[in-house]
Amino acid sequence: MNKLNVKPADGKLGIMVVGLGAVTSTFFTGVLMARKGLAKPVGSMTQYDKIRVGKGEDKKYLSYYDIVPIAKLEDIEFAAWDVYPADAYRSAVYAEVLQLKDIDPVREELEKIVPMKAAFDKNFAKRLDGDNVMEGKTRWEMVEQLRQDIRKFKSEHNCSRIVVAWAASTEIYVPVNEQVHGTLAALEKAMKDNDTTHIAPSMCYAYAALAEGAPFIMGAPNTTVDIPAMWELAEKMKMPIAGKDFKTGQTLVKSGFAPIIGTRCLGLSGWFSTNILGNRDGLVLDEPENFRTKEVSKLSTLESILMQDKQPDLYTDYFHKVRINYYPPRNDNKEGWDNIDIFGWMNYPMQIKINFLCRDSILAAPLLLDLCLLSDLAARAGRYGIQRFLSFFLKSPMHDYTKGEVPVNHLFQQYTMLKNALREMGGYEADEEID
Ligand SMILES: NC(=O)c1ccc[n+]([C@@H]2O[C@H](COP(=O)([O-])OP(=O)(O)OC[C@H]3O[C@@H](n4cnc5c(N)ncnc54)[C@H](O)[C@@H]3O)[C@@H](O)[C@H]2O)c1
Repeated sequence: MNKLNVKPADGKLGIMVVGLGAVTSTFFTGVLMARKGLAKPVGSMTQYDKIRVGKGEDKKYLSYYDIVPIAKLEDIEFAAWDVYPADAYRSAVYAEVLQLKDIDPVREELEKIVPMKAAFDKNFAKRLDGDNVMEGKTRWEMVEQLRQDIRKFKSEHNCSRIVVAWAASTEIYVPVNEQVHGTLAALEKAMKDNDTTHIAPSMCYAYAALAEGAPFIMGAPNTTVDIPAMWELAEKMKMPIAGKDFKTGQTLVKSGFAPIIGTRCLGLSGWFSTNILGNRDGLVLDEPENFRTKEVSKLSTLESILMQDKQPDLYTDYFHKVRINYYPPRNDNKEGWDNIDIFGWMNYPMQIKINFLCRDSILAAPLLLDLCLLSDLAARAGRYGIQRFLSFFLKSPMHDYTKGEVPVNHLFQQYTMLKNALREMGGYEADEEID
């Protein structure tokens, strides 16, 4: 019998999500439907994947639940904050991701999830105009109100643990400012001084979560927890943080496809990615300052897989461009095009075209589930700070850039990190090399 390196998942797990839009309502509905046996949680690693533990004669393939104690879907309680007052049922209907037949069987449960007032600042998402917001609060007062929300929900729903995840709109780009974001003391001072330029509302949620002893996950490309001050808070509170930006469609393809080019030693002269989407996320991203945040996140993927310094003949100065176009008729059904210009023997050019007709929230919902369950697991395993093993789920994985660390974006290396972490927590040997 292996010695588990993690505390049991006793009691209920409260999952509190910032933003009750397309992704969150699809996630809540899917979990509630799966709990009733009316839908399958397809795409979720925690619910489906099996990994090898042991070697030779001892080799077995086990599901995550057989390796480590992960919270069961039955033990989850949901809550959300949003700028708009619509409950989870109305939000799911509005999002038009799911058909009514897949929402109505859990209508009653969804209607009970009424969003709490948002810590919001219109300057960070100009296209949003809801009235379910905390009025007249400074950044520090937002933190205090959010901490109260977390405590209240935890006690009223009798939860033993909480995880907070951001699946709200992408905020405008907040560049890291050493003076404000460099240390926890400076961050707290800026919050108390109500520095509304450098302190995004998302930072208030992250601070509140960590201060209440809950892991925090950043599902958008916001720099919220990507700053040394938050790493310090996570270490102080011994809580995991993960981010940023769910790796759903085009970037998933990129991080899985680029290794084909790299492994086969083909050259790259350009990669042009464009897509159309018409949901509220697309509307917010239509604002150049919000798109900038997404662009920075999406661009980082290739550079750490196909590296100029490792293969100057193959990967010097390739042209990488990412575009997102707001196009309402498609709603949540995003269409992505990738044009890849590669070259082969004696530099002869070739092209690859990928056309992905995906469903944004259908891809994001299982990632949100896995990130929540695995962050809760990590906390019970005593892991804190940046959770690199969760990079698999993220477009722009967190890393310590102050020490020159390069993030792992290669999908299969990320998968190895995920498997090794699970093996370790389950008391097995982390036996795969990341190469
Ligand atoms: N769907 C995907 O494939 C995917 C992939 C990667 C990242 N994301 C990110 O996930 C996030 C959610 O996507 P979505 O499609 O559900 O968007 P959405 O617009 O449907 O929902 C976002 C919700 O967040 C709310 N919100 C904004 N600021 C808030 C705040 N400060 N506090 C509380 N609520 C706030 C909005 O009112 C809105 O209802 C976006 O940032 C998106 O970029 C999505």
